[in-house]
Amino acid sequence: ADDGYDLWLKYTRIADRAVAASYRRQLQGWTVLSTGATADAARRELRRALPGLLGETIPEAGAVNRQLVVGTSQLPLLAPLHGKVAGLAPEGFIITHTRIQGKESIAIVSATETGMLYGVFHFLRMMQTGQPLGEVSSSPKTKVRILNHWDNLDRTVERGYAGFSLWDWHQLPGYIDPRYTDYARANASIGINGTVLTNVNANALVLTPMYLEKVKALADVFRPYGIKVYLTARFSAPIELGKLPTADPLDKAVRAWWQDKIREIYTYIPDFGGFTVKANSEGQPGPQNYGRTHADGANMLAEALQPHNGIVMWRAFVYDHQVPEDRTRQAYNEFKPLDGKFLPNVMVQVKNGPLDFQPREPFHPLFGAMPSTALLPEFQLTQEYLGFASHLFYQAPLFKECLDADTYARGKGSPVSNVIDGTLDHHTLTGMAGVANIGNDRNWCGHPLAQANWYAFGRLAWNHQLSPASLADEWIRMTLHQDAAVVQTIRAMLLATRETTVRYMTPLGLHHIMGWNHHYGPAPWIKDKERADWTSVYYHRADEQGIGFDRSARGSNALGQYHPPVQALYNDLQQCPEPYLLWFHHVLWDHTLRSGRTLWDELCYSYQQGVDSVAWMQAQWKTVHRKVDDAVHAHVTSLLAIQYNEAAWWRDACLLYFQQFSKRPLPAGVTKPT
Ligand code: GCU
Repeated sequence: ADDGYDLWLKYTRIADRAVAASYRRQLQGWTVLSTGATADAARRELRRALPGLLGETIPEAGAVNRQLVVGTSQLPLLAPLHGKVAGLAPEGFIITHTRIQGKESIAIVSATETGMLYGVFHFLRMMQTGQPLGEVSSSPKTKVRILNHWDNLDRTVERGYAGFSLWDWHQLPGYIDPRYTDYARANASIGINGTVLTNVNANALVLTPMYLEKVKALADVFRPYGIKVYLTARFSAPIELGKLPTADPLDKAVRAWWQDKIREIYTYIPDFGGFTVKANSEGQPGPQNYGRTHADGANMLAEALQPHNGIVMWRAFVYDHQVPEDRTRQAYNEFKPLDGKFLPNVMVQVKNGPLDFQPREPFHPLFGAMPSTALLPEFQLTQEYLGFASHLFYQAPLFKECLDADTYARGKGSPVSNVIDGTLDHHTLTGMAGVANIGNDRNWCGHPLAQANWYAFGRLAWNHQLSPASLADEWIRMTLHQDAAVVQTIRAMLLATRETTVRYMTPLGLHHIMGWNHHYGPAPWIKDKERADWTSVYYHRADEQGIGFDRSARGSNALGQYHPPVQALYNDLQQCPEPYLLWFHHVLWDHTLRSGRTLWDELCYSYQQGVDSVAWMQAQWKTVHRKVDDAVHAHVTSLLAIQYNEAAWWRDACLLYFQQFSKRPLPAGVTKPT
């Protein structure tokens, strides 16, 4: 049975014999010319993959006709190809048909070892997905492609639904779990080149020598795979560890403490990546405790990291309940005035939407508002508000919706993707961050199909132009089945999950009506918490007239934080795209929507459609029984049954609750709660 451990690197034998035979003809031998740890990793991968895919061993031998040759363009034999890779980013690579020492060859070449390894993984993916072994030239669109693990030192994972943390802090550095290498392989195969090991709600202890030894051990495993290690920095560490009276970023002793600490970290990990920092949000300490700004805080760390080439990823996820302000406006209020004040090795890390990883949010207004600052988008692969690892939710369409959204920062055609890949405002420090959905579950992500989110995130961080459909295709072929009809069925399921979930959880722009604190299941009735922005009633504002949060100029004017053409799109109740209707407007129950139905009826139908769509997913999944592995099939079948029951729970709970306000009957076709 397939336990999911091998992810998309299963290297199952290619089923199509003609395709396999054609690959075999082109691969009479192979050789990795480079030497060193990364070349060894490439060699190990080819040794594992080729016999798996082709069912026979391909000799490792140079100088045969129709060979595969792998190396960097510094090698004399590959130097003639240098011109072809010179224009690419350092991690870019080419796959090309050429003659080497007079032999017909396919060459995988990069200017760097890491790029060479990426080329090998790309080549293997071509084989895994049955593509012709044609010419490729690939270069990442962003630089820092990074996972954020919200992992605590006791191995619990904040919002993690796939077991405990992968990092066995207790046994590190003595025991190096082979799984760390498999983690690195998986990441390298999709171009992820950084990992923040610890929770944003940080524990300063990880900065002490005892833990730095352990971090170093992980960094040593990851390094050959081109992956840098980063940590979260607790802003009050100078007090907690250094016994200083303050953590004021302008205090000399504090600055000296961080400089020493950072120097110390680099003695353990010479290529340490830097820090992610959550400050002055949800009770975390930060520069504002001392009357300083986020820029003061970030720059203090950035200055100390700069000599070592480290960076700071300073999170914009800040809000303060003392301020009577729409929470979705607060990050912009805090950060927009600081544009241009951050040092060049600082990135401001911005969640995809202005609230908190909802099934649907508009893009964050900071994208397009800080042209002089490197912005790092943060997506959440772990499904905090998306049914945890019980519900199937393929997130690539959600990522894409944000990346494709037009900010109009420099007129029409200024999508978020071009803000974050640096092309819009000429930034060279660029990236994409994803809060990992990985734990020590045997299948890594809890739900057997949730690996697709890790996969799609990495691939999109490399190239945001890839489509959710093609990424689903790749992942399914490599992971579940090669048969085109099966791939098509599962792809259709995956692509439907996003809208399905929106419908049964938060249709028409509703948001944050999940269970309090754990964020699982419906709870639109939550009120009377110590802070309004932790209640549900604050967000949906249902009353006898209608429902929704007025964020137009008549309301909180969160809409005013966007560029005028975006405002124009959403401002008018009649024109506002309906997926965002109740995000931006308080709408009368009898308001007529584009379908011709009233808002109340449409809301009811949306919930019903969400439930029906899960039933459709169940039916689809049945059709691939005996095609995909039995264990995987049974597991997903059970989880889809949970999802179905819970979709119905969402529908019933929300409709019964909202009906108290609407005082209208459920329309025909909507199942009455029993
Ligand atoms: C959400 C989440 C927290 C997390 C926070 C963050 O609010 O519920 O658990 O710490 O986001 O992103 O910092």
